[in-house]
Amino acid sequence: IIRSLSSSAVRSGVIKHVTIIGGGLMGAGIAQVAASTGHSVVLVDQSEDILKKSTKGIEDSLKRIAKKKFADKPEAGAEFIQKVLKNVTTSSDAASVIHSTDLVLEAIVENLKIKQDLFSGLDKFAPDHTIFASNTSSLPITDIANSTSRQDRFGGLHFFNPVPLMKLVEVIRTPMTNQKTFDALLEFSKALGKHPVSCKDTPGFIVNRLLVPYMMEAIRLHEKGHGSKEDIDVAMKLGAGYPMGPFELLDYVGLDTSKFIIDGWHERDPDNPLFAPSPMLNQLVEQGKLGKKTGEGFYKYK
Ligand code: 3HC
Repeated sequence: IIRSLSSSAVRSGVIKHVTIIGGGLMGAGIAQVAASTGHSVVLVDQSEDILKKSTKGIEDSLKRIAKKKFADKPEAGAEFIQKVLKNVTTSSDAASVIHSTDLVLEAIVENLKIKQDLFSGLDKFAPDHTIFASNTSSLPITDIANSTSRQDRFGGLHFFNPVPLMKLVEVIRTPMTNQKTFDALLEFSKALGKHPVSCKDTPGFIVNRLLVPYMMEAIRLHEKGHGSKEDIDVAMKLGAGYPMGPFELLDYVGLDTSKFIIDGWHERDPDNPLFAPSPMLNQLVEQGKLGKKTGEGFYKYK
């Protein structure tokens, strides 16, 4: 089935068979959405243990969706979950599963060298038509693409947490991304039921370029003693209509992730005050208080 899907996809430029590398929150979320919209998905990570956790995460999220979508028809809900799960297979060996994939989408650790090594390795095994894309939130797509010989078939697809609920996808083109690839990535985003926006390969694209300095500014406001975390959060929720306040969102995104992004930008543009590091953020990360996922960040969680 995969082969026939893929050969028609080659002709039409439509993405049907997807390989997602990285079974973390982002990768699993993307796999779930792709499977829910009828794509054939292979989710790849290093070990069976991690993949078991990813599948469990997908199942839990699908249960929450089914509970709402099929409120008075639990049987139809269970059927929906089974149908989606059928579209997802897992593997711990990317090279052996990408022989007929239309898209390889990477959502692994935010480390340029590791991403480059991954893609330069897969470049040799993937068919010619296969598009490569990264879900990086802050690294230049161009630098990752340059590790391959398919810079024209390389772009960015940046999703938002929680992937099943957030409607946006940033589609990033580098100066080398060809039109066919860019169009295929736009169409794929729409086929996932998302709303794509076009971005250039600039730091943070659109959302993070605005959101991360805003969250850093909230920490600085608090560091200066100008407001409590609770008051700043309530203020932005009730005064600006944000669903979460900046400290809640920092904990949700992960303090390590936020620190990684701001440190990278600060290194590249040290004179920009928007990218200045924060002692409070650094200290929390040093203490292993990384937000909701570790049970404590700016707030404590049960
Ligand atoms: N899967 C399925 N359903 C989920 C879910 C998930 N992962 N997470 C939440 N839900 C469901 C809940 O079950 C709940 O359903 P119900 O209405 O039937 O009870 C519903 O969504 C609402 O959830 P909650 O009541 O728990 O909370 P909220 O109403 O506050 O909604 C939210 C949750 C959608 C996360 C909302 O708070 C929100 O939009 N927050 C901001 C998120 C945001 O800004 N994300 C971007 C971060 S930046 C990023 O990701 C980029 C990266 O590069 C750093």
